[in-house]
Amino acid sequence: MKMRAAVLEEFGRPLSVQEVDLQEPAAGEVLVRLEACGVCHTDLYTASGADPSGYVPTVLGHEGAGVVESVGDGVSSVRPGDHVVTLFSPQCRECIHCLDPRTNLCLKIREEQGKGHLPDGTTRLSRDGEPIRHFMGTSTFAEYTVMPEIALAGIDPEAPLDRACLFACGLSTGLGAAMYTARVTEGSTCVVFGAGMVGLGAVAGCRLQNAGRIVCVDLSAERLEMAREQGATDLIAGDGNTVERIIEMTDGFGADFTFEATGLVQVMEQAVETARMGWGLCTIAGVAGKGETLEIVPRLLITGRRIAGSSFGGVKGRDQVPGLIDRYMAGEINVDPFISHDLTLDEVNRGFELMKAQDGIRSVIHFN
Ligand code: CU
Ligand code: ZN
Repeated sequence: MKMRAAVLEEFGRPLSVQEVDLQEPAAGEVLVRLEACGVCHTDLYTASGADPSGYVPTVLGHEGAGVVESVGDGVSSVRPGDHVVTLFSPQCRECIHCLDPRTNLCLKIREEQGKGHLPDGTTRLSRDGEPIRHFMGTSTFAEYTVMPEIALAGIDPEAPLDRACLFACGLSTGLGAAMYTARVTEGSTCVVFGAGMVGLGAVAGCRLQNAGRIVCVDLSAERLEMAREQGATDLIAGDGNTVERIIEMTDGFGADFTFEATGLVQVMEQAVETARMGWGLCTIAGVAGKGETLEIVPRLLITGRRIAGSSFGGVKGRDQVPGLIDRYMAGEINVDPFISHDLTLDEVNRGFELMKAQDGIRSVIHFN
């Protein structure tokens, strides 16, 4: 079939919205008609050429939600008409990692996905017979996508898809960092560094875990106000004294749980330093640039601080995204404030400009 999609032709250039070909789903695959897709930093990072593992041409986009149109042979977990959230982090439910509760890093299709292929090593996307690669196994800056069944989470059909799409990446990453990676405990003190999509999600996750105190650090007063709406109890405008201030406000000890959601290694250092002596857990959810390193004074570790990394918030997508959406539908998570701009597919490059200007939290593309 023919469809419109935003193609990255060349790194550092605007995406080109054009007509491309999409083949029918093969065995184990599903054709999804996209309703909405968030514009995330990872899309911009790849488009800029900064990611050395990037490739072109490719259709970007990975924060999608839509409706199942048709399914390939052997697909049993979703059917036409089902509402789904796309998962760049799939869950096969069979590999050694899927069977272990300690990680969400499914191994099943990792290698081919990293190359921009579907699991059988080919692409369904093409143009004039030339293959176009699938970005993050999702390619959701498009009217339709073909994805493996194991990379789709079936959700409540009542959930608005232009809100549900945020659970495909940023929001679940933040919520999950608090709920599944750190497993924040009741009454605990938490510090969240960064009040972008992931940080605000982490604030909400700490609140859902019944944390006693939630401190949020950011440079923007506007974003800190959003953090307050999501449940932050203390707001800090970051400056040279951030670490001292946090240590001071926690009786000289530091916090039970800290979260890093900026991707800046200097901030990661602060998140480690402000974790409490004895048992403080620092969860790194931000993605640092390739080649950057994090310096840690070993004394901080020997005195009981721990560090955990969190990819997609440790969320096992097919099992746990539907439950997060249910909590949103129950009124426990306020998603609306995160959506600052509604765009059409043709305006996708404006979504990147808004992100670079730090204007708003999320732009969402609507496909009809
Ligand atoms: Cu993302
Ligand atoms: Zn797996």
